[in-house]
Amino acid sequence: MRLKLKPPFVIILKIIGGLCVFCFCLFLFYSYQIHGLLELGYSKEASKNILFGFKKAAVLAIGKNKTLNAAFESSDYQEKNFDSYSKITYQKQEHLIQNINRLLKKGYSNQNISMILSHGTDKEVMDFAKRDKIRYLEEFYSFPYAKLSYYDRYVQYSDQTGEDEENTVIFVNLDMDKEAYTDSTLVSHFSTTMLVNKYRYLDSSFLPEKLEKISDQYTNGEEQMAAKVAVDAFIKMYRAAKREGLGLVINSSYRSYQQQQEICDTYASLYGNSYVEKYVAKPGFSEHQTGLSFDIGSTSSDIFAQSKEYEWMMDNAYRYGFILRYPKKDEDITLFRNEPWHYRYVGEKIASYIHEHQITFEEYYVQFLD
Ligand code: DAL
Ligand code: ZN
Repeated sequence: MRLKLKPPFVIILKIIGGLCVFCFCLFLFYSYQIHGLLELGYSKEASKNILFGFKKAAVLAIGKNKTLNAAFESSDYQEKNFDSYSKITYQKQEHLIQNINRLLKKGYSNQNISMILSHGTDKEVMDFAKRDKIRYLEEFYSFPYAKLSYYDRYVQYSDQTGEDEENTVIFVNLDMDKEAYTDSTLVSHFSTTMLVNKYRYLDSSFLPEKLEKISDQYTNGEEQMAAKVAVDAFIKMYRAAKREGLGLVINSSYRSYQQQQEICDTYASLYGNSYVEKYVAKPGFSEHQTGLSFDIGSTSSDIFAQSKEYEWMMDNAYRYGFILRYPKKDEDITLFRNEPWHYRYVGEKIASYIHEHQITFEEYYVQFLD
């Protein structure tokens, strides 16, 4: 027996069928429209919002753009800022679009906003975006290592010292706007690129990696230890010097926190505190505790700075990864008096750069390692 449907059911079925066909067509149309955006690299979420915001043509004209993608993914998207989003360099930051909106409102250009975003973390940019528009943005932030959160310190330091912008950024990044030995930073991990100075200290328990005894043939006869990486480099350098008829001697190398304390006490009682301040680091603040520094002497003269070994070291130490750590011309940066005998292992690449550009390890550190 054939089931006979009553007319209203037929109509309802027809409507449902029609709706299904319509939805399917709509789905096909949507898929076709979104496909181009997905192919360009926009996320599903962003592509959907681009379509429903009727911005597809504008976005396709721009092409792939990470900041635009983030903007269309964000609930902070503002239509009036569309053009700026497409011109501001993307940064992976949680509040990127909110911060861009705020900075645009403060009157910064797209280029300046790209600069601001690249100099701080998400939180630092957020804090920066809350303050009044600053005056010396390009002056300080054209240096890639300038820190957004240090702006007030840069302005104050440059006003007080008259240093140019580049030096201001370098010195403030090194904390040199603070008093030495105060508010210092703890350095906890051993590395051949670690920076230890009057602002950056080691814990009393800090030990260098692979601390090993140095064979007597390289030392002044006292028991000496240093990090293996530095000892190996020294031996290479020692042999090269020897081939040229020169004799290098290690007079001091790794010093524990306690040994540095003893040296400070001895020198203070012999020569007074002002001498100690200029030549000896306080315990924890001495590079000797890293196991990467050597005080070098010569077999030819008691005064190293007058020996041929000193001349040779000045010309060749960098080839073996060593730098003269406290040069005469840089006493205002290292904050130690010139020590012609104190060499630090940093590896050949860094030592070569420092030698070629005649800069301190401090300056290198701020620019490339911090
Ligand atoms: N003489 C150097 C600065 C030191 O004590 O580590
Ligand atoms: Zn030394």
